[in-house]
Amino acid sequence: MERRSQWGTRLGFLLAAMGSAIGLGNIWRFPATAFENGGGAFFLPYLFALLTAGIPLLIMEYTIGHKYRSSAPRSYAKISKGMEWIGWWQVAISFIISTYYPIIISWAIMYAYFSFGTQWGDDPTGFFVGDYLQLSEPGVFGSMIPSVMIPLIAVWVIVFIFLGKGIKKGIEVANKIFIPTLIVIFFIIVIRAVTLPGAFEGLDAFFKPDWSAIGDGSVWVAAYGQIFFSLSIAFAIMITYASYLPKKSDITNNAFITGFANSSFELLAGIGVFAVLGFMAVQTSQPVSEVADKGVALAFMVFPEIISQMPASSLFGFLFFGSLVLAGISSMISISETYISAVQEKFSISRKTAVFTGGGLAAIVSLFYANEGGLFLLDTVDYFINNYGVALAGLFEVVAIAWFAKSLKEFKGHANEVSDIKLGTWWTICLGVITPIVLGYMMLENLRREVT
Ligand code: PHE
Ligand code: NA
Repeated sequence: MERRSQWGTRLGFLLAAMGSAIGLGNIWRFPATAFENGGGAFFLPYLFALLTAGIPLLIMEYTIGHKYRSSAPRSYAKISKGMEWIGWWQVAISFIISTYYPIIISWAIMYAYFSFGTQWGDDPTGFFVGDYLQLSEPGVFGSMIPSVMIPLIAVWVIVFIFLGKGIKKGIEVANKIFIPTLIVIFFIIVIRAVTLPGAFEGLDAFFKPDWSAIGDGSVWVAAYGQIFFSLSIAFAIMITYASYLPKKSDITNNAFITGFANSSFELLAGIGVFAVLGFMAVQTSQPVSEVADKGVALAFMVFPEIISQMPASSLFGFLFFGSLVLAGISSMISISETYISAVQEKFSISRKTAVFTGGGLAAIVSLFYANEGGLFLLDTVDYFINNYGVALAGLFEVVAIAWFAKSLKEFKGHANEVSDIKLGTWWTICLGVITPIVLGYMMLENLRREVT
């Protein structure tokens, strides 16, 4: 058998794991989620979710990858024959995400370009849906949108090139370029943002705690959802990336570093985004809550409007959308690697063949969103993936491993053998008790919301 590829250095693995974790979820999802779920008070459930589910699961996924040195489906199969499907479920979720994630990256590429001369004009909302997406009637499929197709193809070409070159020469190199660049750009953005007039108004709105939120179950659900999405756990990604670790690798320490780096980036993004929103609020004499809209609207409708009003707007716009592109592509590479490695192993084909068949299929499916009505489709798919796909995948994962296979004790021993930080009973309780209960509750809560 061919020797399994490995990361060149520990830093290489860490940058790749951070590259996967730090993504669109940090830059636009986190600020909006925190703001809507209690502001400063959100940090309590958020930290709880990070420490009881996020980092413990990251440790578990690193352990699984490191121990079995296989793609996710085969790793689960090695835990127990009947569990291979959990790996495929997670791989399938990653596949679906990889069909619409590049669309958002494509928008960011075009907006980095539109930043020169602030081409979105005086009506960025009209520009986004009308001129750029050419949506006449949402939800109706029409012709392809050429202005989305060009950057979309570029994204796929970049992703294919790095994936085709393999772990050390491809994925590791990409992240060694993208992540340090992203960090530098982001510091520039945040410093610029907090020195704008009105910045503190925005930060005040962001951090002001609404303590009543703590008693609200849906706030806890949002915190767990954010942590899962943001740390790329239960997507087969971290198992896959850890499967390329050398034998001598500190698992637990690496998991803590990844978790804290991702959360720091999230906090930084929240500060940057809300400082800018505060500036906007002061410029237009509106309350911050009025300008803090959500998701796509925030990045591609509200932000362009604000950027137009800023000094050196073209440069700021270019850096902001450029940071979305860098964060997005490094996450995109990790999502795609899950199914590349899975099919490569399952059908004993070469990496290049796997990239062209698996990636090629995802690329073709992604064209469906580059279409009139694509935005509606994207929203719907994203909603179901986040509310059901991931929560279920996480629930299957912990229940299968902790309750059915009863592997936690063995995994703990494995991680402790190679790690400086030793896992104690807290780890077993987090994964065997707390996380399954919360995820089970999360599923019920989502269903209940559906019915009412
Ligand atoms: N963790 C990434 C983010 O925060 C998103 C992501 C989700 C990446 C799922 C891969 C898989 O944006
Ligand atoms: Na993230």
